[in-house]
Amino acid sequence: MQNNENVVAKQETVISNTSGKPPTSKDSVVNLDAGDPTMYESFWKGMGDQGAITISSSQTISYFSDVTNFCWFLEPEFAREIRRLHKLVGNAVTEDRYLIVDTGSSQLLQAAVYALSPSDTPNPMNVVSAVPYYSTYAPLMDYLRSGLFRWAGDACMFKGDAYIELVCSPSNPDGFLRQAILKSGGGKTIHDLAYYWPQYTPITSPADHDISIFTISKSIGHAGSRLGWALVKDTVVARNMTKFIELNTIGVSKVSQIRAAKIVKVVTDSYENPIPENPDKFFDFGRRLLVNRWKKLREAIKASGIFSLPEFPSETCKFTGEKAETLPAFAWLKCEKEGIEDCASFLRSHKILTRGGSYFGAGPNYTRVSMIDRDETFDLFIERLSSLH
Ligand SMILES: Cc1ncc(COP(=O)(O)O)c(C=O)c1O
Repeated sequence: MQNNENVVAKQETVISNTSGKPPTSKDSVVNLDAGDPTMYESFWKGMGDQGAITISSSQTISYFSDVTNFCWFLEPEFAREIRRLHKLVGNAVTEDRYLIVDTGSSQLLQAAVYALSPSDTPNPMNVVSAVPYYSTYAPLMDYLRSGLFRWAGDACMFKGDAYIELVCSPSNPDGFLRQAILKSGGGKTIHDLAYYWPQYTPITSPADHDISIFTISKSIGHAGSRLGWALVKDTVVARNMTKFIELNTIGVSKVSQIRAAKIVKVVTDSYENPIPENPDKFFDFGRRLLVNRWKKLREAIKASGIFSLPEFPSETCKFTGEKAETLPAFAWLKCEKEGIEDCASFLRSHKILTRGGSYFGAGPNYTRVSMIDRDETFDLFIERLSSLH
C-alpha cells in the first residue's frame, strides 16, 4: 500500500489509509467513499455477550454442511435464522424459494449472472442496469473478460432481447425504489435488495422476484463476516448458482455462517423475545441514527447553497405499521454552484472523500456520500460541510 491519501486499485474500489478508521483530529481526512457500515458498531458493542459464540475446533472440519440440501454448504442454522428474519421484517417471500449462501452479495451477483447466461450462444449475454447504477456492477461483470456475459451499460439505452438487468432497489447510489426498466420476454432480471431493510426504507410488500440478493453487510452491519444470500424461484437457476460457488470457492465459510446465524438471531429475538435488561432493537437503532443524520445533512446542505439532495415520499412501513421516510444509506449529492464541475474533486480539496458520479454512469456534478459510517466521521463531515460556501 502506498503512503498517499488515495490509492486507486485496478478496479473501482478506492482504498486509502483512512479506510475503516475514524478521524483522529478536526482537520483529518473524512473518508465517506465506501459504504463501510461502521455506524452499527456501537449497537453491537452495546449488545455485549449476546452476540458471542463459541465454535469448537472440531466443528468446521468437513467441507459439507447439509448434503440433503442441493446447496450442501449452507449451514442449516444460518438458513433457519435468515428465513426467520425475513418473516419478521416482511421484506421477502421465502416459502418455496431456494436459499443460496455465498461470500457476500458481490459473489452472488456473479453466480446469478453465470446461471442466467446461456453457454451455447456465440455472443456473451449483455448485463445492464439503469443509470445511476451501483459502481461495482461494471467492473464486476468485466474483470475476468468472460465469454458468457459482458457489461453493456445503461438499461435505459439498451436495445435488444438478450440481456440480464440488474435492479438495485432501493438504489445505490440515489436511494429510490426501482423496478426493472426492460420488459422483453427474452430478458432476465436480478434484484439486488441490499438496502431493502426498514432502517433505510419503508417496507411496502414482501419482495417476490426470480432472484433476490441480500447481504449481511448492509442489513445488520457485519460486512467483515462476508456473507450474502439469494432467494431463487427456479430450480435450474438455483442449481447453476450453486455450481458456480462450488467451482469458485468450494462452498462458504462455516465459521462465518455460524457467526452470522447467531447475530441474526439476536436481531430477531430482540423483537420476538425481548429481554428486559437490553431492550434496544437493531432496526429501531438504525432508523433513529439515520433520521438524525439525514436531518443534519439536509440542514447543512440548505445552509451551504452549493448542493442539492433527492426528495423522497413517505409511506407506511408494514414492519413498523407507521408512516416512514426513506433514509438511504448514501446521500446522492448534486453540485448546483456554477464553476464547480466536479463535485467529488471539490469535496476532496476540502479533505472529504466521496465517490464521484462517473463511477455510477452519471455526470461528475454528482457524488455519493456514505451515511453509514461512525458518528465521529459523520459529525466531522457535517461540520466541514457547514463551513463551505
Ligand atoms: C447495492 C449493493 N450490492 C452489493 C453490495 C456488496 O455487498 P457485499 O458486502 O455483500 O459483497 C453492495 C455493497 O456496498 C451494494 O451496495
